[in-house]
Amino acid sequence: MDPEHDQNGTEHWSSGIGFILASIGAAVGLGNIWRFSTVVGQNGGGAYLIPFLLAVLFIALPLMILEIKAGRALAADVVTAFETVHRYFSKVGWLLVAVGFVVLSYYLVITGWTLAFVLFSLLGTEGRFTSFTAGYLPVLFFIISALLTGGVVALGVKEGIERVTRVLIPLSFVILIGLAIYAATLPGFAEGLSFLLTPDFSVLTDPAIWGAAFGQAFFSLSVGTGILLTYGSYLRRSVTIARSAVYITIADVSVAILSGLIIFPIVFTFGLSPSMGAELTFTILPEAFSMITFGAWIGFSFFLLLFFSALTATVSMMEMPLASLVARQGFSRRKASLLLTGAVILVGLPSALSYSALNLQVAGIPVLDLLDETAGSFGLPLTALLTAIAFAWLLDPALLREKGGMKGPVPRLILKICRYLIPPVLVVIILVLGLNLLRG
Ligand code: ALA
Repeated sequence: MDPEHDQNGTEHWSSGIGFILASIGAAVGLGNIWRFSTVVGQNGGGAYLIPFLLAVLFIALPLMILEIKAGRALAADVVTAFETVHRYFSKVGWLLVAVGFVVLSYYLVITGWTLAFVLFSLLGTEGRFTSFTAGYLPVLFFIISALLTGGVVALGVKEGIERVTRVLIPLSFVILIGLAIYAATLPGFAEGLSFLLTPDFSVLTDPAIWGAAFGQAFFSLSVGTGILLTYGSYLRRSVTIARSAVYITIADVSVAILSGLIIFPIVFTFGLSPSMGAELTFTILPEAFSMITFGAWIGFSFFLLLFFSALTATVSMMEMPLASLVARQGFSRRKASLLLTGAVILVGLPSALSYSALNLQVAGIPVLDLLDETAGSFGLPLTALLTAIAFAWLLDPALLREKGGMKGPVPRLILKICRYLIPPVLVVIILVLGLNLLRG
């Protein structure tokens, strides 16, 4: 028998390290660098870190452990896993697939921007964000990113996802540390450091900050999206899940904080505003890079880091629906990846065109931003809530114990947290985010 497949033809990671690197690849992405610095900048710097870290530690991490354990226990794709819990829940599984797919569609557009900026820095052509997005180049780079993602997942769990993440994740960490050392030499480093790390307890009474922090924690760790459940289904029994989840979380949070330590010193060194919002990474930073010695190389490394981390995340986002198409529709991996790549290009096209001359907007909001505010910010806590209810409340605890390894005092505590703490907290967060969304 092929050692990489079990009797059901299910693929496996080659080792625990392979799983951890692939999951770090899923977690670390634009969310840690582009989105984190945007949200921190808009929510008062260090103030935001407290709710974010609380969300990561008490909500996202326990749910991550449960999700991976459920994945391993059920050894199934998202739809089948939810259906095992209750036959009506297969629809919930498809909902997770749909939300993840929509997030993937606009995420690939931004991945395309990062690839374009890698090339601009390499060629020495100054890429102006507004003129770049006004044309049709973003569509081309979006399609290239979608094809690359589809190509990696078509190759399989071990030959595709694991192989790519084994190279790109260590490389990304080397670039990140190099850039952080560079940022430490900048005159604005101290100010950047204090902006990021000085807590301001007074803002903790603002529910919007809590909502933003929780939304960011789920987006960044890819928890409650079905991705980790899918990755967990390829795990062998010998891997310790709780420890792996702690490594994934530490890596994810470290990348977010290190990125802040790179971005904010640059922002302060050039007297720019940290609350610029989503354009910070693509408009303000290239401007700063154009003013410094070796700026082209710094810019190149920075955008390469963004592109690598985005690509390992898009791969995970495509693997999740792919596993369901293979298991539920009987497609081969190649056929499913071809179909998903084609579909994601169609679905993502309006996002890729939202800043173009066509100006694709809904109620004055660019399609891309609208999808990020709905599926990206609001959808993920919702799918996380459904994940917690399905696997902490409805899944047979004996199955979790025997096949997921949910035994012993710490796993029991994690299960209690997933049952009694996470659902009510998530309901409140969903209400806060929903109200913010309605207020516009
Ligand atoms: N978890 C991925 C990110 O943070 C989606 O970008």
